[in-house]
Amino acid sequence: MATPDNETLIDLTGKNALVTGAAKGIGRAIAERLRAAGANVTLADLDASGDATAKEIGGSFVVCDITNADQLSAAVTAAARGGNLDILVNNAGIYPTTGPIDKVSDSFVSRMLEVNVRAQYSAAREAARAMKDGGAIVNLASIAGIRGGANITAYSASKGAVIALTRAFANELGPRGIRVNAIAPGIIDTPGVQEQMAPLKAGGLDIDAAIAANPLRIAGQPDHIARVTLFLVSELAAFITGQTVVVDGGATA
Ligand SMILES: NC(=O)c1ccc[n+]([C@@H]2O[C@H](COP(=O)([O-])OP(=O)(O)OC[C@H]3O[C@@H](n4cnc5c(N)ncnc54)[C@H](O)[C@@H]3O)[C@@H](O)[C@H]2O)c1
Repeated sequence: MATPDNETLIDLTGKNALVTGAAKGIGRAIAERLRAAGANVTLADLDASGDATAKEIGGSFVVCDITNADQLSAAVTAAARGGNLDILVNNAGIYPTTGPIDKVSDSFVSRMLEVNVRAQYSAAREAARAMKDGGAIVNLASIAGIRGGANITAYSASKGAVIALTRAFANELGPRGIRVNAIAPGIIDTPGVQEQMAPLKAGGLDIDAAIAANPLRIAGQPDHIARVTLFLVSELAAFITGQTVVVDGGATA
């Protein structure tokens, strides 16, 4: 068998991809990378500004709250374009400030798990149904799901669950030619992070320094995550499934 060249291995021409939470931040960067590799990219987000994002990068947009079964199903159908869905990037997630355990209500924990775990699970299940000829799923976890951390307990629990469901889905879907991996980002400079850090900034925190507080002293950018996503969904990663790739500038090293 001839060895494919590098360009062929990373070429996504004709592949149908769905990226959730793609209006901005990490999801947007991922959608851009997949589009640049030739994929037909559908951006799904509950924020209607995703329409403008899609136009800028040459993709399609569907309004979709991933917790809504009908909207999720419509997004998967749109992304499959009457054929196979080849790629799902399960990126949409929330990280509202958790605070100390004593201040965390049951409803807060339920909401975190509803979006970050239950809806990601549903999205992977719906996508897998549309991956009749195989495919690749990438779930966005977090280093918070690996090492934990004070005041982010509910978020940590949700992202730990994403890592576990990634392994389980990989086992079940592997025989159908569907690879399932996760990325655990360190802190990445996105609108969501800026929003979360705003109160700390008001208290004197240097946000840029906090974002670059890793051994590489590089501020984590959405494209750092997008590059690894491209690798994981491409044929470069043909023999990788069930894994969580930490992309954090060495913060957990
Ligand atoms: N930024 C980081 O430092 C960081 C670190 C680790 C993990 N992550 C994970 O990466 C993912 C993206 O993070 P980000 O920083 O780009 O976030 P962000 O808040 O900047 O953007 C998230 C996008 O997802 C959308 N979204 C939220 N809930 C949704 C829902 N129910 N249905 C559809 N869309 C929804 C938002 O409208 C937004 O456009 C999340 O899963 C997050 O937990 C981020």
